[in-house]
Formats: sequence, C-alpha cells, structure tokens
Amino acid sequence: MNSHEIFEESKQYMPGGVNSPVRAFKDMEITPPVIKKGEGAYIFDEDGNQYIDFVGAWGPMILGHCDKDVVKAIKETAENAIAFGAPTELELKLAKHMCTTLDNFDMVRMVNSGTEATMSAVKLARGYTGRDKIIKFAGCYHGHFDGFLISAGSGVMTEGIPGSAGVPEASIKNTVIGNYNDIENIEMIFEKMGNEIAGVIIEPVAGNMGVVPAKKEFLQKLRELCDENGSILIFDEVMCGFRVAYKGAQSLYEVTPDLTTFAKIMGGGLPCGAYGGKREIMEKLSPMGPVYQAGTMSGNPIVMAAGLATLTKLYENPDLYVKLETLGEKLEKGALKIAKEKNLPLCVNRCGAMITLFFNEEGKVENYEDAKKCDTDMFKKFFLHMLNSGINIAPSQFEALFINTTHTEEHIDSFLQAMKKFQV
Ligand SMILES: Cc1ncc(COP(=O)(O)O)c(C=O)c1O
Repeated sequence: MNSHEIFEESKQYMPGGVNSPVRAFKDMEITPPVIKKGEGAYIFDEDGNQYIDFVGAWGPMILGHCDKDVVKAIKETAENAIAFGAPTELELKLAKHMCTTLDNFDMVRMVNSGTEATMSAVKLARGYTGRDKIIKFAGCYHGHFDGFLISAGSGVMTEGIPGSAGVPEASIKNTVIGNYNDIENIEMIFEKMGNEIAGVIIEPVAGNMGVVPAKKEFLQKLRELCDENGSILIFDEVMCGFRVAYKGAQSLYEVTPDLTTFAKIMGGGLPCGAYGGKREIMEKLSPMGPVYQAGTMSGNPIVMAAGLATLTKLYENPDLYVKLETLGEKLEKGALKIAKEKNLPLCVNRCGAMITLFFNEEGKVENYEDAKKCDTDMFKKFFLHMLNSGINIAPSQFEALFINTTHTEEHIDSFLQAMKKFQV
C-alpha cells in the first residue's frame, strides 16, 4: 500500500488516522507521508521518497535514526528482559547516570512520557507545599494533562483553539497563566497570590510556540520569587534537556530549578519520561512519602537500555554538541541571508540545535503574542515546498526543527538550496 492508501484506511480505525494530532498534517491539507524506515539523517516513506529529516520524532532522535549503539542496546536487552514490573539493575544504571552527570538532580522517578513527567512533578510540588495553584506560561506546552490545556502551545496552538473540550472548569481553576519573558507580569501574580502558589512550571527554552528562549533575567526572577514565596520552580526540559546542552537549558542560564522534567531524548526514541531534583522534595513520593504516583511500565528494561545508550554516548562525546551548534549556526545564518536576498519576512530563533524560522514581519518573537502574529499561510507554502524538495520539517509554524548528530554541512546546504528555490 502507498502512503495515501495506508492513511485513508487508518482513518477508519484511528481518529484522524493518527495517534497524535499534529501527525495528520490537517492544516497543511495533504496526506502525510507514511514513514517506513529511518537511517541516520534520513527517513523514507512508503512511496519510495527519501527526506532529510529535521523533525527527529519531535526531538528524541538526537543521534539520528537507528543509531547502532542504541539499536544494539535494545536488541541485547530484549533477549532477556522485556518487562517485569520489578526492580532491575538497568533502572539503577540510568538513574545513577542521570543523577551523577546532571546538576541539581539528587533523585529521579522514571515514567513513560513527558506528559506523565510534568503532571507528576506538579502533583509533587502541590503535595510538598500543601498548596494548589500552579503558574504556567502562555505558549508553553507541558503535555495533554487537563490542568495545562489552556493557552498551550504545540498542536493546541497549531489548531488555533483556546484549549480542549472535556476539561472541567475545576481542573483549570488552579492554573494561573503568566506571560513568557514578562517580569512585571510575574511579579504582579506573585504579589497577588504568592502564598497560594505551589509551583511554577516553564520551558526554559520554549519549543512549543516555535523556539523562544527565555531571557536570563526572567528565569532569575522566577527563581527569586519562588524562593521568597516558598514555591517550587519546575523546569520542563522534556524538549530542551540533553538537546541545547547535555545538562539542559538550566546549565546555559545558570538558574537552578527545584525539579526538572525530561522525556524525548532520555528514552533514546522509546516511550519514556522522568522527573527529579532535590532529595528533600523527591522523598515525598510514595512509597517514601504521601504523594502517590505509579506506573506498570515505568522503568521498563528496554527503555532504560535505549536511554542509557543515548545519554552515555552524548555525555562521553561533548564534541557532538559543538557539531550541533556549528550546524545550527550555519542553518540560521544561511536562512537569514536567503531571506534578505528574497525579501522574506523571516525571524530565526535558535538555541543550539533547536530552531524555528518564523515568518514574522516584526523581526522578533519573544512570547506567545509575538508568535501568534506569524504568517501561517506563508509558512504553509514554505512547508509544502520544503517537503516536495525532500526536506522534512514539522508541519506547523509553532514547532522547532531539530538538527541531529548525523547531519552534515551537506545536509544543511541541501536545506538552504531548497529554501533558495522557495517562491512565495
Ligand atoms: C516541553 C514539553 N513538555 C511536555 C511534553 C509532553 O511530552 P509527551 O508528548 O511525551 O507526553 C512535550 C511534548 O512535546 C514538550 O515539548
């Protein structure tokens, strides 16, 4: 069957033909290529097309597709251990690796997705402080947990909807929305209700309204306000963790959160998530403490093995991050040059190998309101042109494109060559 046939039949059995909305390319109004195989920098569809991939499974594939060490770890583990629901040495190895190679990370709890990591971290912040209110920022996406589905980025933003049906008022009454990068606004919120705030959750480099790095002073202010008010600061590094630097965005900003959430890269492409941080807070988790959170598949041996292989390779080869930065800079500079030559309204936001090309007249995107002003029609034309030229980027203006360690200068050149041929 070709992509069209597979996708049409999939629609009969899965809503929209997919298991996660953005994959349906609804706004792009085309059938998504159905992917058959991935190898290094490339993916191949069921129709025999090859694409240079800048989506990387929405972030996890930082080592490229089917990295040989990750595949080996998965195969070897699967020979003996698929699932036990019991403690394993592999869990210890990954937990110890994370706690010893990351800063501010005394203890960790493994889960199965980014959503699970963020919703559990928030519950822990509430359990620890005995308070209910959580501040999140407009344009940040922390997964599909009810309490976060207002002013969310990612697919919610792409579809232009304020939130989701099926979320009871009661689930969001304790969610307070702040403006990203707006110090006055966050000061005002804390002034009004500081002693009710259990925690603040933020993507320190936002990737879900397109890439929007936080300003250092803004994160420092959050740290200060959380300290003054006894609130927990949670950095959601599901996307930027192990991506913008091995030790995540917090190492670039030198701001220390109380808890950090991870997923994507840390599972090596398998379903995974984790949250962790200060021992004193983590010890409130069941079975040590009163905050209950559990998971049949949590700490699954194959997932642990894939995660460990990925993180070990990244940690032992810091030059990989130098390569990602070099290629990221090449793409950024090249895209801006082409935009100037072609008179395209382009603003490029980048943090390492996490980049968004915003079609934006104003030349800056620093928050959700700025991002919403982008020309999504122009983005759509750009996306379709790039896909037809063999370049796979996310089908939304409000997502990041990711460079992986198997990309080369030639792949970036191919991206830029394709961009040169873009006609508005
Ligand atoms: C920053 C951030 N947090 C949380 C999530 C949710 O992760 P998952 O899709 O694994 O549930 C995402 C997903 O893209 C994310 O980017």
